Amino acid sequence: MTRTSENLSPELYEYLLAHSEPVDELLRDLVAETEQRFPDRVGLQIGPEQGTFMRMVAQLAGARDAVEIGTFTGYSAICLARGLAPGGTLLSCDLSEEWTSVARSYWQRAGLSDTITLRLGPALQTLRELDREPRFDLAFIDADKEGYIDYWEELVPRMRSGGTILADNTFSHGRVIDPAATSPAVEGIRKFNVHARDDGRAEAVILPIGDGLTLARVR
Ligand SMILES: C[S@@+](CC[C@H](N)C(=O)[O-])C[C@H]1O[C@@H](n2cnc3c(N)ncnc32)[C@H](O)[C@@H]1O
Repeated sequence: MTRTSENLSPELYEYLLAHSEPVDELLRDLVAETEQRFPDRVGLQIGPEQGTFMRMVAQLAGARDAVEIGTFTGYSAICLARGLAPGGTLLSCDLSEEWTSVARSYWQRAGLSDTITLRLGPALQTLRELDREPRFDLAFIDADKEGYIDYWEELVPRMRSGGTILADNTFSHGRVIDPAATSPAVEGIRKFNVHARDDGRAEAVILPIGDGLTLARVR
């Protein structure tokens, strides 16, 4: 797994980074610490251009209240939280105390400890415990791929009208178009992509950023 956008030559990817908003020192340090402590997991983080894009989506949408499914070491949470309107909140859900302890320390360093709330436990349960009423302007799904449809179904009724749902890895590293790829994760993404496209409560587009990023707008 890499943190780059799929199917760009290394040269074009370098060019993209060189002509996009640079990533700050705090995020660079977070990537370095994640690489050092969890070297075989660093590919779980979203890439720099995706982080910048997601922060800008939050800003452009004027989002105030957000939820994230899949914290890991906190990179995407920092990007989302930085894009929220003043007084904004981000509920970030994960299972791992070890990975999210890194997240918490970087949220503190970023001055975002009051903005981001971490909820440890199965994210589906966390969502189901929230009142089923519109409360979020922005959601980011980036956890177990088999669960994407369930997360979507719990999120849509909790989104304010016009709210944005982002879902990561919707290309499944290109495996979505490989008939030989039949793992539960790939099948989960294939089913999710059909589900999101056909759900009349929202409109969705897959963007070729990172490993495929679905951007959906709830009507
Ligand atoms: C791809 S990583 C998230 C990366 C993160 N968004 C970032 O950019 O750094 C997926 C995360 O989902 C978490 N996860 C997997 N299954 C989960 C579940 N059922 N409930 C909550 N979190 C889960 C994992 O512990 C892992 O940290």
